[in-house]
Amino acid sequence: MTTLLQPRPETHAPAEVVLRTDRLEKRYGGVLALDGVSIEIRRGTIHGLLGENGAGKSTLVGLISGQRQPTSGTIYLDGAPVDHADVKAMEKAGVFLVTQEPMIVDHMSAAENLMLGIWPSRHFGFVAWKRLREDAARMLDGSGIDPAAAAGKLDAVARRKLNILRAMFSGGKVIILDEPTAALNVDDRAQLFDFMRKLKSEGVTFVFISHYNDEILEICDACSVLRDGRLAGGTQDVRSLTSEALSELVLGRGLALFQRQRRSFPEASPALRLRDIRAAALDVPALDIRPGEILGFTGLPGAGAKELARAIFGLLPVRSGTIAFSGEIDAPQPLPRDPRDAFDRGIAFLSDDRRRDGSVGGMSIAANLSLSSLQSVSSGGFFRRGAEGALSDRYFAAMGIKAAGPHAAVDTLSGGNQQKVCLGRVLATQPRLLILDEPTRGIDVGVKQDVLRIIDALTRDGVSVIVVSTDTDEMVRIADRVCLFEKGRITRELVGSAITTERLRGLAEG
Ligand SMILES: Nc1ncnc2c1ncn2[C@@H]1O[C@H](COP(=O)(O)OP(=O)(O)OP(=O)(O)O)[C@@H](O)[C@H]1O
Ligand SMILES: [Mg+2]
Repeated sequence: MTTLLQPRPETHAPAEVVLRTDRLEKRYGGVLALDGVSIEIRRGTIHGLLGENGAGKSTLVGLISGQRQPTSGTIYLDGAPVDHADVKAMEKAGVFLVTQEPMIVDHMSAAENLMLGIWPSRHFGFVAWKRLREDAARMLDGSGIDPAAAAGKLDAVARRKLNILRAMFSGGKVIILDEPTAALNVDDRAQLFDFMRKLKSEGVTFVFISHYNDEILEICDACSVLRDGRLAGGTQDVRSLTSEALSELVLGRGLALFQRQRRSFPEASPALRLRDIRAAALDVPALDIRPGEILGFTGLPGAGAKELARAIFGLLPVRSGTIAFSGEIDAPQPLPRDPRDAFDRGIAFLSDDRRRDGSVGGMSIAANLSLSSLQSVSSGGFFRRGAEGALSDRYFAAMGIKAAGPHAAVDTLSGGNQQKVCLGRVLATQPRLLILDEPTRGIDVGVKQDVLRIIDALTRDGVSVIVVSTDTDEMVRIADRVCLFEKGRITRELVGSAITTERLRGLAEG
């Protein structure tokens, strides 16, 4: 089914190896994150790196880029061993890493952030600076990012794009992208891929980490799979691979895709009624959500999908808007003032920006899981330890969080496992309305099915769910109805079997 990467039967020799690792090992205390990884990356190729959450992908590229030092083993760049190089030294040698968590300097403008990679290591005269600024502005042009905007004001997706552009702008010869496409929409993704192909034709090499098989198959020349810190199956030529084969390599078993048995909601009275929601970039006169319904929100950034979700949770200032739950459907209330108010009314929210509204780094997983549901585990303001334990144990198991134990600090978890903690925390609040912004972002193919299963099960208890997602596959598998947002309005709806990948892609591309 899959073949080892062979020299291509072409007249010219295969590209030379630009980067090579020899029996790399990385231990974190008792955790063996990488176990003897030997890999070769060829110049001018796009090399995919896959694996389950916690398999060791970020650790591997962290070592290659000088962020961390290996416990043992050697890295070779252009044939020469790299000894204890830090990030600065590796960037000087042309190796750039765009991490899973954006490294953005909030108080600088978007354009200034773009120039961070080449700054302040080199000295430029005034003219060079001016040209640089112009180049940065040109690159941002078409990305939808205002070059003069303070980076701290940008949303998660814009910050992600900015990071990618920065690495590319810095003139790296090996650029490593750790899950760059998570939460990018169809357009952004196409733009990124075009840009990668262009740089590749100029001889730039990419290492590309993704949980999306279709992306690996579309953009990569070769790929390698990590499983529990070891390379599984050697390096593969992507041309001979299928999506199923990739999932099997990643999981070590076949993947059972989840598909929700869609419900129809003929005359059921709504669980939730939204009316007259108006804000700066939002105009939604009426929206009803049924009990146990999963409603998908989609659209271009700024078109209103995220904005409406945030407005319902009291995160976006509105001019007007009411909300009524079943049982009180004829007594609409103003939208929640703030998240606390929303939470008190039984609304839970998972933000797509976990760096800002997400996990609390220094705290344990258990504490993080019960953070939002302190109310349900505390009685009369008194915090009950036992209840915290029971709740977090349940979700620790349900989400398959990979860690030394529930008391491990969240910042020692892999990216996807941190995401699972955030999601578990929100699910544990037992809300009436659950709002999930990109719920499976960063989550591997196997766990993604488990997450969809958990959401599906919650709706059987009558919980209504709003899913904001750019992942068309996810929408097809889970949503009962999808609302398309354009210019702050809901312009179209797809219901039931009309929700297909083709239709959703078509809508996204206008
Ligand atoms: N600072 C740390 N301290 C302790 N353990 C760590 C630390 N960083 C990573 N680990 C552990 O190393 C293992 C590999 O993590 P890594 O971040 O490389 O996974 P990953 O393949 O990138 O996963 P994901 O898809 O979730 O991003 C995990 O078990 C993780 O918990
Ligand atoms: Mg990672």
